[in-house]
Amino acid sequence: MKNKISNIKVCAFDAYGTCFDINSAAAVIKNKIGKKWLDFASTWRTVQLEYTWLRSLMKNHKDFWQVTKDSLDFSMKIHNINPKYKLELLKLYQKLEAYPELKETLLYLKKKKIKTCILSNGTPKLLRLLTEKAQVKQLFDSIISIEKVKIYKPDPKVYELVTKKYKCKPTQVCFFSSNSWDVVGSKSFGFKSIWVNRLNKNFDNLDHKPNKIIKNLLQLKKFL
Ligand code: LAC
Repeated sequence: MKNKISNIKVCAFDAYGTCFDINSAAAVIKNKIGKKWLDFASTWRTVQLEYTWLRSLMKNHKDFWQVTKDSLDFSMKIHNINPKYKLELLKLYQKLEAYPELKETLLYLKKKKIKTCILSNGTPKLLRLLTEKAQVKQLFDSIISIEKVKIYKPDPKVYELVTKKYKCKPTQVCFFSSNSWDVVGSKSFGFKSIWVNRLNKNFDNLDHKPNKIIKNLLQLKKFL
């Protein structure tokens, strides 16, 4: 069928924002944070990502947990949030909610005999905690952290972790991310890349466009 993506050996998933809801930490204590909770959550995410890019450019790597703490401090100051909530927010960040369709999506791919993995900036420990809590750890064939190469997405060395692990060509990998810059990075490496546009955002202007756009993971059934 024309619409299908064929010859895929492995589906690789970004974690934060794609499998797990990054706003779900601040959402739990939104009554304590007040009306600005979502603005704050979005600053935290933006600064967290900026720090990953800056650290990669400076060649001064610190792991994603440290970057998450550093960006939290900065964002709490910007939004005038009482520092007493810091530990609570960090604990919640270790137990972000999985998106409801994640499990069914992985079971569907298993039936199709397509391998599945996470490819994430997250540390191995963070990714273990998230997948255990969501009861999906056993459903992924592997969980790949950038800590293996100690540089952040979208460095090509990160996407190469998947082709090395599965001994396949980039075109045999179907990569899913809700982050449009991550879709661009993976496409530039040669993956087939799917944008999970959960929040009706605009796609970046960075040469590459996604192979498909879906609104949630289970919509991959349309082409896989
Ligand atoms: C990750 C971030 C980029 O999981 O969402 O790698």
